[in-house]
Amino acid sequence: MKPVPKTFAVKSFGCQMNVYDGERMAELMTREGMTPADASDADLIVLNTCHIRERATEKVFSDIGRIRKDRRAKDGRGPMIAVAGCVAQAEGEEIIRRAKVDVVVGPQAYHNLPKLVAEAAAGTTALDTDMPVGSKFAALPARRTVGPTAFLTVQEGCDKFCTYCVVPYTRGAEVSRPFAAIVDEAKALVDAGAREITLLGQNVNAWEDTDGRGLHDLIRTLDRIPSLARIRYTTSHPNDMAQGLIDAHRDVESLMPFLHLPVQSGSDRLLKAMNRSHDRTSYLQLLDRVRAARPDIALSGDFIVGFPGETDADFEETLRLVDAVGYAQAFSFKYSPRPGTPAADMADQIAPDVMDERLQRLQAALNRDQLAFNESAVGRICDVLIERPGKFAGQMLGKSPWLQSVLVDSAFAIGDIARVELTAAGPKSLTGRQLVAAAA
Ligand code: SAH
Ligand code: SF4
Ligand code: F3S
Repeated sequence: MKPVPKTFAVKSFGCQMNVYDGERMAELMTREGMTPADASDADLIVLNTCHIRERATEKVFSDIGRIRKDRRAKDGRGPMIAVAGCVAQAEGEEIIRRAKVDVVVGPQAYHNLPKLVAEAAAGTTALDTDMPVGSKFAALPARRTVGPTAFLTVQEGCDKFCTYCVVPYTRGAEVSRPFAAIVDEAKALVDAGAREITLLGQNVNAWEDTDGRGLHDLIRTLDRIPSLARIRYTTSHPNDMAQGLIDAHRDVESLMPFLHLPVQSGSDRLLKAMNRSHDRTSYLQLLDRVRAARPDIALSGDFIVGFPGETDADFEETLRLVDAVGYAQAFSFKYSPRPGTPAADMADQIAPDVMDERLQRLQAALNRDQLAFNESAVGRICDVLIERPGKFAGQMLGKSPWLQSVLVDSAFAIGDIARVELTAAGPKSLTGRQLVAAAA
C-alpha cells in the first residue's frame, strides 16, 4: 500500500499530442485535489512516453530506475509511478512485469487516471490500455489557464500504416472529435489567455465530421473567435490535403502561413515501400498548389534516412527533392526498426555508419535552406507573438507568422503581438526592431 498522492508531476516526451495529453492529465489531477510539484519531490510521477524511435522502452526503464534511486536517497521511499503514452500502450504488461510500476495507462484511457491511482494506492497494480471511442474528452475537466499559445487535439489515431511507424498501433484508428466540442474548447482556451491555437492530430488534415465538414470549415469557424489571433495545425498527411484547406491558406487571415507536410523520402521506390501513398511528383505538385494559394508559405517536413533498401541513388533523390522545395525548417531521423511494424522485418537493413553519413548530408542541406529562408525574411515587416523573455534583460522572444523565433528588444509583455521589422537572421532565429507601441 502507498499513501494516496497529494502532489504530482507529469513528464511528457515525444510529439505535441503528448504535450497536450500531459496538460490534460495535469488538469484532471488538479480537479481531483492534487497539486503540481517538481518531479524531485512529487508523490506521483507520470511518465508520458513516446515510442516512435530507438530504444524508447529502454529509456523508460532507465528513467524509472533513476527516479527511484534519487528519491530513495532523498526521502527514503519512492514516489508512485504511472507510465502513460505510447510506450504504455505498446508495452504495458512488460513495463509492469519488469519495472513493477504502480499504474500503466494508454493514450485513450487517461481520463481514468484518478481511478487507477486510487487502485494503486489500495495496493493493486492498475493497467488500462483500452481504446474506447469518444469517452475520454467528455470525461476531462474544462481548460483553465494557458499561455499565449495553446495546443488543441482535434483528431487522434492513424489509418495510414506507413510500414515503419508504430502510431497506428499505439494510438489506434483515426477518430475526429466533434465540431462543437472543439469550438467550445477553443473558446475556453482563448478565455484562459490563448492568442494562438495549434490544432493537433496525427493526421490533423484528415479531420472530418459526420456532416461532411473538413478541417478548413473548422478553421473558418475558429477564425471568428474574437481575440484568437493565430491558428496553426499539425501534422498533415499529403493525401489528406484537400483543396478547401489550401484555399483557407489564401482567405483566412488568422491561419498562419506555415505547413508541416512530411514527405519522408524523395525516392518513389522507397515511398512505395514505406506505403506512403504519395509519390515525389504528386507531393511537389501539391506544394505548387499550396504556394499558388499562399506564396509566402513556410514549408516544413519530416525525413527518414536509411529505410531498408535505401540505395545511394534513392538518397540522392531525397537531396534533390530538398533542393527543389527549399524547406523553411524540417526534421530528419535515422530509420529505427519498430517491433511489430512491417519494415522491421524487411531485408537490406542499412548499416549505422551509412545512416550517419546520410543524415549528416541531409541535415547540412536542410540547415542551409533554413538559413536561406531566414535571411530572405530580413527586411519584412510582420507581427510577432511574444511568448517569453529572451536571454538578456529587456529582450523578448516570440514567433513570426512563419514560425521563426524572433528576438525583440522592447517592453512587450507575454501575449502581446508586436509589429516588428526583421533586421537580421541566423540559422535558428532572427532579430526584430519594434515599429509601433504594443497593440495587445
Ligand atoms: N503522422 C505524421 C508523423 C508522425 S511521427 C506523419 O505521417 O507525417 C513523426 C515522424 O517520425 C514521422 O514523420 C517520421 O519522419 C518519423 N518516424 C516515424 N517512425 C519512424 C521510425 N520507425 N524511424 C525513424 N523515424 C520515424
Ligand atoms: Fe505514422 Fe504514417 Fe500514420 Fe504518420 S501517416 S502517423 S508516419 S503511419
Ligand atoms: Fe511518440 Fe506516440 Fe507521439 S509514439 S510521436 S508520443 S503519437
